[in-house]
Order: sequence, then structure tokens, then C-alpha cells
Amino acid sequence: MRTPVLAANWKMNKTRAEAREFMVALLEGLPDNGTEVVICPPYTALTATVGAAEGSRVTVAAQNMHQAESGAFTGEVSAQMLRDLGVRGVVLGHSERRQHFGETDEALAEKVPAALAAGLQPILCVGEDEAQRDGDETADVLTQQIDTDLASVPEDELAKVVIAYEPIWAIGTGRTATPEQAQEAVALIRVRLSGRSTEMAEQVRILYGGSVKPGNAADLMAQPDVDGALVGGAALDPADFLAIVGAAGQ
Ligand code: PGA
Repeated sequence: MRTPVLAANWKMNKTRAEAREFMVALLEGLPDNGTEVVICPPYTALTATVGAAEGSRVTVAAQNMHQAESGAFTGEVSAQMLRDLGVRGVVLGHSERRQHFGETDEALAEKVPAALAAGLQPILCVGEDEAQRDGDETADVLTQQIDTDLASVPEDELAKVVIAYEPIWAIGTGRTATPEQAQEAVALIRVRLSGRSTEMAEQVRILYGGSVKPGNAADLMAQPDVDGALVGGAALDPADFLAIVGAAGQ
């Protein structure tokens, strides 16, 4: 049995005070349903969120990092710096970083092992855009991203990586993938991973992301290969996010 993961991607939202306020409401309402809950604030709210999560089962992840340990990389942050704040994971390869900030699969091939080496849990995002889906290229896109981004991760570490399947056409659009579309893509990713190691592929948590809301979360997560959700818009409100966390325990 794979433990479900519910991750809240706040993107470029929330001040420290807003992060603390969210955390109070989250911890007050958090069901004891055996899920893993991860909050991904902007860098500036990491420390406040880590502090607010202390003593709870909620962990905190960053939204990006650089692959080098240190050096002349103005504006960047390393895995070690995140660890130093009490951060436990990091989102890598989010489509907004790929689209707007030049994130490449080649860089991700270094970032994923660098995160693991520093003891951070990577949440690797993959997914096709609308033209690729319409052109029947979804399988090729996912295969290429998975193969390249995880190429340097040793087999026995694969299960430490969380993967988020996020079709770009579903992110922030209100156009959620159907549960069947989500299952099909997530199963394809798992089959691809089993080419590396069947045992590890069975253990890897693969999430769905893209317009997950309280009203559609249960159906998406009821799919046999969907092990949770990466939530953007609906994770800004603690009541909505709590409803999604609750849906995972059903
Ligand atoms: P959304 O974002 O839930 O607002 O579609 C998901 C994401 O970008 O991770």
C-alpha cells in the first residue's frame, strides 16, 4: 500500500502572516487519515511555515532549487540551504518553471539526484501541453521527461521520488483531466518506471495535479494508480485543501 500524498503548491502567494494563518486552520482541521501532507510555500514563507508545522505530521517543501551545492549562481538556492531551514522536500520541474523560466530536462536530471543526496524528497512534475495531447504525443512526452529527469537516480532511490502528473492544459484552467485520463497517464508512468525496477515502480507515489478541487478530488484519487494530488488554486484556502486531504482517506 502506498501512502497518499497531498501537496499544496502556493506558487507566488502568501506572506509569512498569511502562511501562519493558513497553518493554524490546517492543523486545527487535519484529519488523522494516514495521508502525507506537504505544504510548498514561496521561499520567503518557508521558515514561518516550518515553524508553524513543528510537532505536526505536516512537512514543508520548496518550489524549486539549484542543483549545485554553492557557488556563483545569483538568485538561486541550494538543497543544503533548504535543509538548513528545516525544509524536507522540493518541487522540481513544475510546468510554470519549464514554460516561463527555462527549466530543462537536462537541469532536472541533475536537480533530482542533488535533492536526494541532500535528503530532500523531490516532487518531480511532468505533463503534456494541449497541442501534444491533441497530437497524440502524451505518451512520448511523459516517457521522455521521466527517462531524462530520473536518468541519474539510482534504482534503490527511485521510490523516494514523488512524481506529479500535471497536464499543462489542466493547470489553473478549471479543466480537470477526467479520472480515466489521469489513471491512463499515471499508469503509463508507472509502467515506464517498472522498466527500471518493478519493485520500486510499485512503491513510487504518483500524484495527479491540475484543477484539483474538493468536488473532483475523491474520484481522481480513487483511481488505482493515483496516489494523491498536487493542488494549486484550491490549496490557498485551508477549508478547500482540508476537504481534498479528507477525500484521500476515503
Ligand atoms: P491548479 O495548479 O490546482 O491551480 O490547477 C496545480 C499546480 O500547478 O500544481
